[in-house]
Amino acid sequence: MNSNYARVLIPLILAGTFIIDVFMPWGYAVWVIGDVFAVLLALWIEWPIAPYIVAAVGTVLVQVGHVLSFPGIPIDIAVFNRIVGTALLWVAACLVARARKAKLDDATRRLGAIVESSSDAILSVTPDGFVTTWNAGAERIFGYSATEMIGRSILTIIPVHLQRDRAWELATVRGAHDIHTYDAVRLTKDGRYIDVSVTLSPLKDDVGQHVGVSNVIRDISERKRGEALLHQAHEALERKVLERTAELSSANNSLRDLSGRLMHVQEEERSQLARDLHDEVGQLLTALKIDLQDLQHGEEGQPLSGCLRDSLELVDCLLTQVRNLALDLRPSILDDLGLVSALRWYANRQAERNGWTLSLSVVGMGGRVPVPIEVTCFRVVQEALTNTAKYARAKVIDLTLCRQDEDVTLIIQDDGVGFDVLSARRRAQGGASVGLLGMEERVRLAGGSFVLSSLPGEGTRIELSFPLTEQEQIQPHATVEAISP
Ligand SMILES: Nc1ncnc2c1ncn2[C@@H]1O[C@H](COP(=O)(O)OP(=O)(O)OP(=O)(O)O)[C@@H](O)[C@H]1O
Ligand SMILES: [Mg+2]
Repeated sequence: MNSNYARVLIPLILAGTFIIDVFMPWGYAVWVIGDVFAVLLALWIEWPIAPYIVAAVGTVLVQVGHVLSFPGIPIDIAVFNRIVGTALLWVAACLVARARKAKLDDATRRLGAIVESSSDAILSVTPDGFVTTWNAGAERIFGYSATEMIGRSILTIIPVHLQRDRAWELATVRGAHDIHTYDAVRLTKDGRYIDVSVTLSPLKDDVGQHVGVSNVIRDISERKRGEALLHQAHEALERKVLERTAELSSANNSLRDLSGRLMHVQEEERSQLARDLHDEVGQLLTALKIDLQDLQHGEEGQPLSGCLRDSLELVDCLLTQVRNLALDLRPSILDDLGLVSALRWYANRQAERNGWTLSLSVVGMGGRVPVPIEVTCFRVVQEALTNTAKYARAKVIDLTLCRQDEDVTLIIQDDGVGFDVLSARRRAQGGASVGLLGMEERVRLAGGSFVLSSLPGEGTRIELSFPLTEQEQIQPHATVEAISP
């Protein structure tokens, strides 16, 4: 039953019983049963002396009822009845008080068991900061037994360097602060610092006086460790993202540089082509035109054979010039006869021009390889041999083209003066040249790998390698050829 109902019912029952007692002319005091019932209802009121107060009020009312009621029986029996009734009232009050105490003891025992079995540390502290209770959870977390801690200061478990925390805790147990939950660091008996969550609640006595605080302390070291790991992982991820972004932007920049330089080279090639057309083909055509005009305006009967011979020679020169230009732009031999023939033709031509001893070894190049690989190999040989001619002062050039099951490899080697690859690469990245980077870029775009090795005085070696897909792999012929001019 709700204690509020009991508070209302008890006075009603007492008053009703009294009225019946006064106005019923029996005088036996049997209505004291009503008062006993009122005493029983005091079981639901939290106040410990409530049953005795109800019994005392009932006693007064029974006696007053005796004085006021109409006597229907002899006085000695009436008095005896009322004494027995009153005794019954007090016996009921004692029983109710005992039952209440047993109920309270049981509740306290249950509460104690809950506190004891809790995995959290639960302790109470006086307003002076001394520990009064210390449960098994506190023993487990802090390593101090209840006997060691009861009577000691709560500051025992707060690290000395946390001065603010210590002062705050002392002020809180005195009742100076609002109570709340907060994360803190505490000190165990073996000197470890642990992360905990502390919940403080005020403790008040029966009359509402502040008598200290209760602490519920939860070990949150695992949670904090997890949070720290998560934080580290998050930071590492952010670092990776930043690194990747920087890499991407630098790759982007170098691509932009390269494409700018390629455009520049393209423009240079165009103007070179325009110069060649103008200076060589144009000159020859002008001379041919003059010859033809001479023929047209020549006087009748004059011999024409000299003029015609000149014109034919000019046409021959023109044809050679145009063929050379076309070959430099893109040798048709590469499309028609394939990489081996194109390399042999080009390398021989360069060897003749520069006076090199050239050896070309071809291993297993029975069929054609994919066009992008052929074009890339040819362009790289062009650039490499041009560099050799420009800088190497070489005597011997070795070209090796080899096809094995899954790879096509091309090696270009000279015995020239060599160079410092790192500084040449740095100069090229600074925009000084485009040849080395262009070769590397071409090979990369065709899906191959590019290795350039050179040391001053030790010649230069370039190795390209292209993996072939399954469809591109056809049975290679085992042929070796060596060409020397
Ligand atoms: N075979 C080689 N022997 C000696 N030095 C070389 C050789 N190949 C390249 N180099 C050096 O490497 C540098 C860079 O070569 P790269 O081809 O990039 O530039 P370049 O030929 O000077 O100009 P570009 O090719 O852009 O017209 C050259 O300036 C040269 O010093
Ligand atoms: Mg070059």
